[in-house]
Amino acid sequence: MRNEGDSRPDPLAGCRILVGISGSIAAVKLPGLVSALAKRGAETRCVLTPSATRLVSPVALASLSRRSCLLEADQWSHQAARPLHIELAEWADLVVVAPLSASSLARWVHGLGDTLLASTLLAAEAPVLAAAAMNTAMWSSPGVRRNWHDLQSFAGVLPLGPEPGLLACDRQGDGRMAEPALLELALESLRLHGASRDWRGRRLLVSAGPTREFLDPARCLTNPSTGRMGVLLAQAARLRGAQVDLVHGPLSVEAAWLEGLQLHPVVTAAELQQRLLALQPEADAIAMAAAVADHRRAAPLPTKLGKEELALSLQAGWQEVPDLLQQLVSQRRSGQRILGFAAHSGDVLPQARAKFRRKGCDLLFANPIDQPGAGFAAATNQGWLLGPGAEERPLASMGKLAVAHQLLDALGALLPPASEPAPPAPARLL
Ligand code: CTP
Repeated sequence: MRNEGDSRPDPLAGCRILVGISGSIAAVKLPGLVSALAKRGAETRCVLTPSATRLVSPVALASLSRRSCLLEADQWSHQAARPLHIELAEWADLVVVAPLSASSLARWVHGLGDTLLASTLLAAEAPVLAAAAMNTAMWSSPGVRRNWHDLQSFAGVLPLGPEPGLLACDRQGDGRMAEPALLELALESLRLHGASRDWRGRRLLVSAGPTREFLDPARCLTNPSTGRMGVLLAQAARLRGAQVDLVHGPLSVEAAWLEGLQLHPVVTAAELQQRLLALQPEADAIAMAAAVADHRRAAPLPTKLGKEELALSLQAGWQEVPDLLQQLVSQRRSGQRILGFAAHSGDVLPQARAKFRRKGCDLLFANPIDQPGAGFAAATNQGWLLGPGAEERPLASMGKLAVAHQLLDALGALLPPASEPAPPAPARLL
């Protein structure tokens, strides 16, 4: 999901994406994904299993992808010079299988190549995003559980488990495919960082978004933070295998970006403080991206003030919000690493140096808020990353997901090895 007017090169532009669609009702959502990928300049080719063709129109997919769809019968065309599944597997820079049905999962995990999609998956060497979708009882059946578990150890594969929700079979529970907007983000993440799950076995606590400090029930002191940077950091860590707690103020981001995260919604700085302190002991690392309001009312009023009373009330009765980042730093356990953020106008670096010393965190990402394409609500960001040993690294302007991955690289490098080892990236199987 990109903002209009964003002039940075899109990581998905020109990327060749093979879209494998198998037989689950979630297949009806795929035209939306294919259309979004085409708008971003990706080249897509769709492969449908026979049951998928009963659920979603190959004609619609061909039109949206600007290329003919590949169906089971195409595997056996006498006009093809090379086996189609090999040609497709070699063509792709990325593969997404969505929805991944119970049967397609079983074929893949057990090495069966008896359909065009199944044999293409066996031949694929590009990173694969796999988004499961099925009925809740099917998802919890022992065979599917075992196959899904086994898929976790396939290197080069990013498995996205189903989400809870109301399913088309009227069942309420796990089984809903990850939303297309999250698949789009996960594909971008695969492009930027590959399928390595180097944060597996680690727990990350992220704060994001603004806080609101109320004067009365109708007015509050807040800021223009949308939460985009913090949410993308949280989701990037989740895609890299971390267990992520996201404590967030009111957000203005794609709702699908929150899937798979443990959410803790708050409104005021006091609520944020309470949730962060409760979650801190379990965290291996903390990323404090929230834009915390600097002042609050000593006593917010329970009833709405008139205009004149409001003008008077604005002049007194404020107190400073305690520095939560400093508090987290002061009471952290040994080995816990903390990333802070800093928003500045003017010359960022000298102000960032002073803030880094004052806050005492391990890393500080400082970004300008007075440059186009950086700061609040922007799709891109840039700035300075300050770290141990007086390290000061400039980060050029790039999409916020790319910034998120760079910050996770730097934060991860300060942590002891995860207790659950991540699979090696290049090999096909462990
Ligand atoms: N922060 C915090 N508690 C506050 C204010 C800020 O934990 N009461 C955290 C932010 O989440 C961020 C970092 O401190 O990680 C820097 O926030 P920023 O708004 O840039 O700086 P302030 O500390 O508010 O200082 P100033 O506004 O004077 O630049």
